[in-house]
Amino acid sequence: MTHKYLELAFTPAVLAAQQRAYGRAAKPHPDGERDELGAAEREFIAARDSFYLGSVNADGWPYIQHRGGAPGFLHVVDERTLAFADLRGNRQLVTTGNVADNARVALFLMDYPQRARLKVWGEARVLDAAAHPEWVERLAPNAGRSPIERVFVIDVHAFDWNCPQHITPRYSEAEVREVIAPLRERIAELERQLAQR
Ligand SMILES: Cc1cc2nc3c(=O)[nH]c(=O)nc-3n(C[C@H](O)[C@H](O)[C@H](O)COP(=O)(O)O)c2cc1C
Repeated sequence: MTHKYLELAFTPAVLAAQQRAYGRAAKPHPDGERDELGAAEREFIAARDSFYLGSVNADGWPYIQHRGGAPGFLHVVDERTLAFADLRGNRQLVTTGNVADNARVALFLMDYPQRARLKVWGEARVLDAAAHPEWVERLAPNAGRSPIERVFVIDVHAFDWNCPQHITPRYSEAEVREVIAPLRERIAELERQLAQR
């Protein structure tokens, strides 16, 4: 587990729960340093075609939204910064409004076939696309067909990997197509042979 993750997630109430349940608590050692994304995290994030984005509203209610795009639409700008283009959507702007009140966000990234998951904590800034063409230019290659209205830039504070337990492997349509391609070829070949008999 990363240092900063322990510091952020293991609050006094969490530690008290651990103490009550197991007779000991995993004491964090705060050192003020943020976690930096390493090669494994950067590669994992760059390959994702979706993630879940958690934010908190002014009343303290948590909120989660699914984000999706072409693989790499969540850009790793550097070891402490992530960014993605916010496309024209349902016009609710719940996450955008939440972030205006409280910049703290949590990202939850899944790789179902590999049964891996990564949690990332950070502080988000929402930039108006019209005022920041440099960001639009940078993120556009992985954006969808809708116009980019905003850009989310996330200063990463902490991350943590979870174990693969209880993750059911699931495959996207593209992944299934890739896996069955040799089988389809083989079927086509056998059909050709049958037709020649
Ligand atoms: C036409 C249309 C296209 C959308 N395209 C995407 C998309 O490519 N990726 C995505 O994550 N959400 C997409 N959405 C969802 C919205 O952008 C959604 O408003 C956005 O995730 C903001 O959600 P929030 O208000 O819950 O924060 C789309 C919605 C609509 C109506």
